[in-house]
Parts: sequence; structure tokens; C-alpha cells
Amino acid sequence: MNAYIKSIGTYIPERRVTNDELAKTMDTSDEWIRSHTGIGSRHIADKSMNTADIAIKAAEVALERGGVKAEELDMIILTTATPDYVGFPATACIVQDKLGASNAGAFDLTAGCTGFVYGLEVAKNFLKSGHMKNILLVSAEMLTQIANWEDRNTAVLFGDGAGAVVVSTSDDDISGIDDTILKADGSGSYALERKVGGVAHPYEEGKTTWADTALYMDGQAVYKFAVKVNTQLISSLMERNNLTIDDIKWIVPHQANERILQAAAKRLKLSMDKFFLNLEEYANTSSASIPLALNDLYEKGELKRGDKLLLTGFGAGLTYGGAIIRW
Ligand code: ACO
Repeated sequence: MNAYIKSIGTYIPERRVTNDELAKTMDTSDEWIRSHTGIGSRHIADKSMNTADIAIKAAEVALERGGVKAEELDMIILTTATPDYVGFPATACIVQDKLGASNAGAFDLTAGCTGFVYGLEVAKNFLKSGHMKNILLVSAEMLTQIANWEDRNTAVLFGDGAGAVVVSTSDDDISGIDDTILKADGSGSYALERKVGGVAHPYEEGKTTWADTALYMDGQAVYKFAVKVNTQLISSLMERNNLTIDDIKWIVPHQANERILQAAAKRLKLSMDKFFLNLEEYANTSSASIPLALNDLYEKGELKRGDKLLLTGFGAGLTYGGAIIRW
């Protein structure tokens, strides 16, 4: 039995905000954002939409393209840093209900921006257990809702979006999820956090401000970590699978900052041409960024069955992880 990505779908909010537009209300510039990150714009979801809503829109496309009915799903795994509710109910359960996935279990998976890579491995192992045939893995993020728009250090980096895949069993061996590395380094948990609102630092009447509950990031700590782990993940995955860079059609990394990937590519002596990037358009969409990139490749006709792809992710936790898949 083999587990593979059967189909993919995404949802990108219509509203596109360029760097120049941001610079009208914030002390920043297109030149600074592009030169420090590679980001040119981001898409921002309508206030009327929740994370479950954008997840459903992406899921509907993936189900339709895969010819899979919602009732045929055995499990829904939803990765997000912006759940609709704190703690419970899981956003995945809202998606399960609204999709009409009447036979599916549903849960949220929290692994920061590495969520999609973690989710792939979890889905694969559910399928390998032999009890399930179709799993919806959906990564949906509305980071613009938790960004502090008074803080130019972080707010300019993020965008909203959702990417979904149907992961299914297959009888042939053309496509598959071949190898995964999943890691964490919780000593860096302070570097990306929402400081207030959880059990550790609860909301305090009259004391807590909205900014306390917003996303906080130590950008330079995350930057150094990201360069190191991207380098490690790419070299370890290639080495332990006996692959050369020519065996890999695309490296599809978490899209946080082009400079992080340039630094990793330089250390590995790899050409940037191997890396597929779309962060110029969407900015950092956390765990949705890898499926958004895969979908862009798919829609550009850049993927054919059996193509080897190397995925890498890193993010809050700190977590990191990578995978070798055959499309
Ligand atoms: N516009 C203009 N100036 C800015 C902006 C902005 N948007 N943001 C910061 N600056 C200024 C700073 O105030 C600082 O000015 P100063 O020298 O007068 O104090 C100057 O630019 C340099 O600031 P640095 O923080 O040193 O900038 P750096 O080159 O390190 O870039 C960045 C910052 C882009 C955040 C970088 O550290 C980075 O990419 N870190 C990793 C971020 C990341 O990957 N996050 C995602 C992780 S996980 C997830 O996806 C949720």
C-alpha cells in the first residue's frame, strides 16, 4: 500500500495589498520589504470570513479535482496558527460539518509553519494502518488577523490563504510520500509566540492590550534558525535517499523570506533555480505556503506524476521538517 497526494486545491482571498499600499499607513516602503524579504504583496481575507471558511473553499477544489466526495473522507487534518476558537472546538470539526464529511474524524494539528509537512506524515501513517482510504489535509491561515499592524517588523511579512490536498491510498507506485523528517527545538519557542491569552499568561481585565495577544517574533533568531535547518533538511533528505539535485524537480520550501533560502542555497552550493518561490505574491502564509506553492506549480503544468519534490518547512515551536514526495 502506498500513500500519495491525489489532488490539490487552494483559496486565495481576492483582496491583494501591495507593499506600496501598506506604505501609505505604515512607516515602510516597497524597497525595504522587497530587498529584505522578496515580498511584493499579500492577500487579506475579508473580515466576514473565518479560517474554516477559507479551508472549506480550498478543500472543495481539492475534492472536486480528486473526484472524491466529502462522505468518502475518513479523516480531516487541519493545520493552522489561527484557529477559529482558542483550544476548542477544533477548526477541523467546523470544516467537517460544513463539508458534509459525515464519515470523517477531524482534528487540528499545531506545528506552526511546518504544519503541512507534519500533516503529510500523519496522513500517510493513518493510510498505512489500513483503516483509511482518503484523508483531507488542509492548511488554512489568516495571519493578518493576529499580526500587530502597528509593528512594521512583523506585519509586512504575512498574508492569508489556504491549501488543501486529498491524500489517498494507491495501488501503483508512481506517486508517493517517500521520506519525512520531523523535528522540533522548543528552546526557541520564545522566538515566535502569542504571549498572552493562553494558560501561561491569561488575559487580565484592564491590563491586557490587544497588542499583547498579537503575533510576536524575534526576526533575527528565526532567520538564523531557518537558514540552518533549511540547509540541514535539504542535505539530510538528499543524502539518506541517495539523491542528487538532478533527481529533484523542485525544492518547495516554506515561503517566509527569499533571503533565508538564498543563504541556504549558497551554503549548499545550489542554484536558486531549483527553488520554487511564490512569496512575492502571497507573502508568508505559514503552513499554507507549501500547498500554495505546489498548487501554483500544478496549475502552471510544471508537475507530472512521479516528479520528485523536496519540501522544507520551519516555524513556530520552533518546528522544522522536510519531505521527499513523488507527485
Ligand atoms: N520597513 C522599513 N524598515 C523596517 C521594517 C519595515 N517593514 N522592518 C524593520 N525595519 C527596520 C528596523 O527598524 C531596523 O531599523 P534600525 O536599524 O534603524 O533599527 C532595520 O530595518 C533592520 O532591521 P532588522 O530586524 O535588522 O532587519 P533584518 O534584515 O533582520 O530583517 C526580517 C528583518 C525580515 C524580519 C528578518 O529578520 C527575517 O526574515 N526573519 C525571519 C522571519 C521569518 O522567517 N518569519 C517566519 C517564521 S515562521 C512563520 O512563518 C510564522
